[in-house]
Amino acid sequence: MIKNLNVALYVTGSIAAYKSLVMTRLLVKAGANVRVLMTDGALEFIQPLSFQALSKHSVITNHSAGMDADQITHIEVAQWTDLAVVMPADANTIAKLANGIADDVISTTLLATDSQKLVVPAMNDHMLANPATQRNLATIKQDGIAIIAPTIGFLAEGYAAPGRMVEPELVMERIQTLVKLKQTPPTHSLRGRRVLVTAGATRQPIDPVRFITNASSGKMGVSVAKAAADLGAEVTLICADVRVSIPAGIKVVNVVTSSELQAAVLQLMKTNDVLIMTAAVADFQSVRVQPQKIKKAAQSDTFTLHFREADDILKAVAKIKRSDQYTVGFAAETNDLRENALKKLRSKGLDLLVANDVSNPQIGFSSDDNQVTFLRTDHAPIQTKVLPKPAIAEQLVDLVAQDLNQK
Ligand code: CTP
Repeated sequence: MIKNLNVALYVTGSIAAYKSLVMTRLLVKAGANVRVLMTDGALEFIQPLSFQALSKHSVITNHSAGMDADQITHIEVAQWTDLAVVMPADANTIAKLANGIADDVISTTLLATDSQKLVVPAMNDHMLANPATQRNLATIKQDGIAIIAPTIGFLAEGYAAPGRMVEPELVMERIQTLVKLKQTPPTHSLRGRRVLVTAGATRQPIDPVRFITNASSGKMGVSVAKAAADLGAEVTLICADVRVSIPAGIKVVNVVTSSELQAAVLQLMKTNDVLIMTAAVADFQSVRVQPQKIKKAAQSDTFTLHFREADDILKAVAKIKRSDQYTVGFAAETNDLRENALKKLRSKGLDLLVANDVSNPQIGFSSDDNQVTFLRTDHAPIQTKVLPKPAIAEQLVDLVAQDLNQK
């Protein structure tokens, strides 16, 4: 997919510039042609020779551009580029991009290129929070430039705060998605829609060290969140216990118990258009969570713990759901799949139910593959093939987008 892709990598003034060396390596390894451009700020942090050795191309700087008498460098590179990646993107470069400023070879080339652009910011938390930077980021987003928001992490300043650039592996994932979407544009879009996805297993405490949970890994929910983001949705992912990494660009809210999950879902339903409830909610909760660890000695051979049913989150959502909102549930069944699933579709007031046979170890919970049936009122069921979870997720969000666009 990335083979022979012409990538212009713009490295700007940030300590995170060293990570762009890894980025260059990853891109070259995947078969891309990489040409690196460095601002004067970037040169303060790192030597062009390192990029030159990895990319096998000489690096373009303000100094080198002036020495090349044969060609107008910025126009030649701008036209050659399939994808422009600004990484790390400092506040100054983002400001220039937002305002069309072209006062050196780097900003001039960026302005001159019609290619797709991806900006990966890295900066001090105060600079990032500054209204001017936020305004500039909003402007470039509106101009169709993809951004991978920085995360909260350890900054060069010596404390943890928002502003830390995401890792090159995550940038690579995003590049692959951008290229794939360009090569095979999806038929339906979720642009302008806000999608809430829940993922993973909730935990219900028994005492301070024990809890009940289930075997969900969160893979399906994370795949759904990514697929929705790929179709252009603004995605919030509520994560219970999730054992897979979350792609960049997705807002994450962490919860532990089903009541925390319920509170987060009900709150976020106020501002979202779609809810996709992939989380495996622990159905039972202790009648009384023991404040101290339950001691073995205090028990006889057998003993009883008292549980009660946890609230059904989707049923609570059904009570507050607006007619323009769309909700999706998953049904994990071991027997009478369609019959049980149809009951859930109605009792939970859903627009779509994804029925899942968890008795088959090849598919479901922790496996990489899945086979599901999409059930909607007034539509024939659609059964998928056995496919990797990301492919199932793509089919699901495509169906959601199709339904929403017809609503
Ligand atoms: N769900 C929920 N609240 C719960 C339990 C489940 O909102 N307390 C959601 C799940 O996220 C899923 C759907 O309801 O989208 C169906 O979950 P499932 O476990 O299959 O069904 P249950 O309603 O729990 O019924 P049962 O376990 O008896 O099959």
